[in-house]
Amino acid sequence: MRIPLTKLARYLRFAIAQTICLLYCCNVLPQNTPAPSTNTRVETKQEDPWWKHMVVYEIYPRSFQDSNGDGVGDINGITSRLDYLRDLGIDAIWICPMYPSPLVDFGYDISDYTAIDPLYGTLADFDHLISEAKKRNIRVIMDYVANHTSDQHPWFKESRSSRTSPKRDWYIWRDGKDRGHPPNNWLSWFGHSAWTLDPATNQYYYHYFYTEQPDLNWRNPQVRKAMYDVMRFWLDRGVAGFRIDAVSRLFEDPNLYDDPILPGKNSYGDPNIEHKYTDNLPEVHEVLREMRHIVDQYPGDPILISEADEPNITELTRMYGNNDEIQLPMDFQIADVNRLSAPEFRRLLDEIDHNPAHGQPFYFFSNHDQPRQWDRYGDGVHNDQIAKLMAALLLTTRATPLLYYGEEIGMRTTPPQRKEDVQDPIGKTGWPEEKGRDGERTPMQWDPSRNAGFSTADHTWLPVPPSSAEYNVVVESHDPHSILSFYKRALALRRSEPALKSGSYVPIDRNNPSVLSFLRKSPGGSDSILVVLNMTGEQRTLTFDLTPYGINQKNSRPLLAAPEMRGDAVSIENLTVQPFGVYIGALH
Ligand code: GLC
Repeated sequence: MRIPLTKLARYLRFAIAQTICLLYCCNVLPQNTPAPSTNTRVETKQEDPWWKHMVVYEIYPRSFQDSNGDGVGDINGITSRLDYLRDLGIDAIWICPMYPSPLVDFGYDISDYTAIDPLYGTLADFDHLISEAKKRNIRVIMDYVANHTSDQHPWFKESRSSRTSPKRDWYIWRDGKDRGHPPNNWLSWFGHSAWTLDPATNQYYYHYFYTEQPDLNWRNPQVRKAMYDVMRFWLDRGVAGFRIDAVSRLFEDPNLYDDPILPGKNSYGDPNIEHKYTDNLPEVHEVLREMRHIVDQYPGDPILISEADEPNITELTRMYGNNDEIQLPMDFQIADVNRLSAPEFRRLLDEIDHNPAHGQPFYFFSNHDQPRQWDRYGDGVHNDQIAKLMAALLLTTRATPLLYYGEEIGMRTTPPQRKEDVQDPIGKTGWPEEKGRDGERTPMQWDPSRNAGFSTADHTWLPVPPSSAEYNVVVESHDPHSILSFYKRALALRRSEPALKSGSYVPIDRNNPSVLSFLRKSPGGSDSILVVLNMTGEQRTLTFDLTPYGINQKNSRPLLAAPEMRGDAVSIENLTVQPFGVYIGALH
C-alpha cells in the first residue's frame, strides 16, 4: 500500500522527533545539544510581539545554583545553568530581587536599587549573565519592587531623621489617632498593624508588608522620578523588562478611612479586613502608564509584568489599560484555583480569553509565594501524572506561560518541621498555622549527589528535600516518561506547531464536568490541535464531533499524550483518556 506523501512526511517528522527525544533523554546526545527538529523555532508573525510567544522561567536566586560554596545561590550559578534553560526551551528568565538588602524579606526589602548584593555577586557578574543569556536567546527580566524600600535604604533613613527632612514626604508619615493608637485600622499583609510608631519623631509610618518595608509615597513626584531612574539604570544594562512587585498596593486613600472588617480572624490572629483603601486605587494606573512610557523608549520592546492578585476579571483587565499599561498581568485567578476542576478552569480561561482589552493572558501555577503545584493539585496517588496534566494546561493554551524553577522536575513543597528552622519571617509570626514560604523555595534539584548538585557547602540556606534523590534533572533526563521529559516535549511542541504557538483558543465540550477540552487553530485556520485534559481519577471516553468548528476529521494524530499513546491515528469519536490523562493530537 502506498502511503500518501504528506502522511509519510508527517510520519517521518514524528519518528525523527521521537528518536531524537529518546536519544536525548537517554543521554546519547550531549546534554547541551538542543534536540534539533523538535526545538526548531517557528518564525513569529511580523506583527506579534516577542513576549506573546515567550516562555518565562522564574528563578529564586538564593535557591537556583550556588557557585561559590556558601550555601546560597548566586548570579554566576545562574549563568552556569543557562544551557539547561536554553535546552528546556526557555526564552526569558525573571529573577527575584538580587539588590543589596538586609534580607528581612529575602531581597524584597531593598536598600540600594542600582547595585547587586555581594551575596549574589557583582554588577560585572550581572552584565556577564546578560551577555551569556543573550548568546542563547534568553532575555533577563528583573524584579522591580516599587511599593516599598527597606528601612535601611538611605532614602528612608533620611526621611525618618526629622519631620522637616527633605525626604520626609517620600514615605507615608502620619500622627497617631490618639495616644498610643495608630492612625487607622489598616493591617499589614504579613500580620498586625500596617503602622509603626517611630519614636524619634513620634509619628507612624505606613508599611503594607513588614515593619522593615516602609511604603514609598507615589504621590510625591520626586519619588516617581527616582524610581523611574532605577528602571532606566537596568534598561540601559540590557534587561528585557520588569516584573513589578505588589503593584496594586502603590497608593493608599489619603483620607485614611478605616478598612471594612470582615468576619473571622487571619492566621496571625488579626480580624479579617477588606483592604479597600489600600488596594487597586485608580491612581495605580497613571503610574503604570508612566512606567510603560519609559520601557517603550527602549529598543527590543521591553516588557512589564504585574504581580497583583486582582479580585476579579474587571480589575485584571484594567491592568492592560488601553494597551498602554502592563503587557502581561500575572493571572492569579487561575493560579489560585486550588483543585482540579474542569468547569472552574474552563470558566476562567474563557473569561480572560475574551478580555475586553484584548490583552495577552499570562498563566502560572507556582511561584515563590505559594505552595508548589505538585502537591497543590496532586491527590497523593497520581501526583506525577497530575504534574504532566498541569504542564499540558500551562503550555497548550494561548497564554504566555510562566514556569517556576523546579516545577519541570516535579519539585514538591517541603515546609520546615520545626519553628526554629523557619527562615521566612511570616512563618515565625504565623507558626504553626502559617509556616511561611520556605517550603516552595528549597534548592533546585540538579542531580542525586550531595545537596542535589546545588551547592558544595556543608549547610545550604534551606535544606535540600529528600525527594531530590528521585526528582532531579539528571535522573529525569534519562527517563523518557519523567515529568521533565514531558515538559521538554510539550515546550518543543509549542514551538514547532503554529497552532499551539499562535493559534486561537476554542473551548469545546463545554458542559463536560470532568474533562477540559479545547482546540487551538492556527492563524490561517489550516492547522488545528485538539487538547484533552482529564481532571478526574477515572478513565473517560469522549466523542467529539468537530464539524461545527469546520473540522471534518474523525481521527487525529497523537502529538503528545500522558500516559503515552501509540499509533498514527486516534479516533476522536471514541477517545479514551486515562485518569488525569493528557491527549494532544493534530487534526491536520
Ligand atoms: C510580593 C513578593 C513577595 C514579597 C512581597 C513584599 O508579593 O512576591 O515575595 O514578600 O511582595 O515585597
